Amino acid sequence: MVLNQLSDQVTLRHGAKLRSRLVMSPMQTLSGLKGGFVSDDTIQYYSARSQAATMLITEFHYVSANGGPAYVPGYPEQLGAYSDEHIDGLKRTASALKKDGNKAILQIHHAGRAAIGRYINGKDVVAPSAIDFSFLNYPVRELTLEEIEAIILDFGQATRRAIEAGFDGVEIHGANHYLIQQFFSKLSNLRTDKWGGSLENRMAFPLAIVKEVKRVVEELAPETFIIGYRISPEEVHGENIGYSYKESIKLIQEVDKCELDYIHLSLATGYNSKPVNQEKTYAQLFKEKLDSKTKLLIVGGIFGEESAKDAVENYTDLIAIARGTMIDPQFGKKILEGNGKAILHEISPISVSYSHLTDGLLEAFSREDSAGFSPLPGAESIRYFHTGKYDLL
Ligand SMILES: Cc1cc2nc3c(=O)[nH]c(=O)nc-3n(C[C@H](O)[C@H](O)[C@H](O)COP(=O)(O)O)c2cc1C
Repeated sequence: MVLNQLSDQVTLRHGAKLRSRLVMSPMQTLSGLKGGFVSDDTIQYYSARSQAATMLITEFHYVSANGGPAYVPGYPEQLGAYSDEHIDGLKRTASALKKDGNKAILQIHHAGRAAIGRYINGKDVVAPSAIDFSFLNYPVRELTLEEIEAIILDFGQATRRAIEAGFDGVEIHGANHYLIQQFFSKLSNLRTDKWGGSLENRMAFPLAIVKEVKRVVEELAPETFIIGYRISPEEVHGENIGYSYKESIKLIQEVDKCELDYIHLSLATGYNSKPVNQEKTYAQLFKEKLDSKTKLLIVGGIFGEESAKDAVENYTDLIAIARGTMIDPQFGKKILEGNGKAILHEISPISVSYSHLTDGLLEAFSREDSAGFSPLPGAESIRYFHTGKYDLL
């Protein structure tokens, strides 16, 4: 018997009601102005996606001045939520996403060592430990104890701004090798103080952020305000292991004690992928350890209705779609109207204007190397749109 359907209404732990199980995954829009402010291009992109799914997560917004911008040098910047001056722009984003009655979630983030924009602007780049990584061509500095405490509070302040701007929730970005993951990883965190060493100490930074966000939400937000936490289930580079999925399940069990609404697994290898030598998928392994009131959200490689259905029928409560909603901004609407077969699976010269990409995304995805992102299906057909205007020599 099939338990979950894409069109099911879902009530989250704190009472927020989602109209379906479909979620738009967070994606950098390459559209910010200097300082991380939204542009008109940001707003047209989000406005076009107000029906891409019934919960819509923004791109990562950095919460501290030393937390970004990350990627892609030369291109319009990553967005920020690190000062009250960002609130007006955040309001515009929230209302563009919410205009058709769907939920808008602000993804909050600190890039740590990946804040390449800091280096380009002649500022120091901070990380748990000052490690000379071969993949970085700039130095990083170890965070002081005071700076760590300040960043934790910054996640709370960004949450306050999200509340003031009218978002329905926040997602804490603990995945994809950014600062929160850097603290959790044995490879990136060599600290010998209370923030490093044992598994318990490496969990301390992520948990302190969750608790601070929760504190602000309890104080300032409506009761139904949503809190999610995104994690990469393991960090394995050949012989080098930052953390195993068993360790990240332990972290998530601790996070779960704070009664979040959902846990979001970032599955670069696909929504139904498995750890090496395991029968069960990451989704199944995490789901069986979660409190039944916490929803599981997964992502990875969904470009049409069939795979989205497979995900919710077999593995998860909620399914996120990233590049699929970049190609087809009406991804969710089409499914919910019974027209899933009409979803576009590839970008093409004719459909580019329908996709409403930002200028920066069109430049990035028409490049041979997709500017380092996973390629868009069909991208070879739009190479001639590439002008190179943002490419650094
Ligand atoms: C252009 C682009 C930007 C992304 N930016 C973010 C981001 O801001 N935050 C985040 O957590 N993940 C980000 N991701 C990862 C996606 O949310 C998603 O996990 C990944 O693309 C796999 O999903 P897909 O196969 O549906 O594209 C980004 C992915 C792409 C392609």
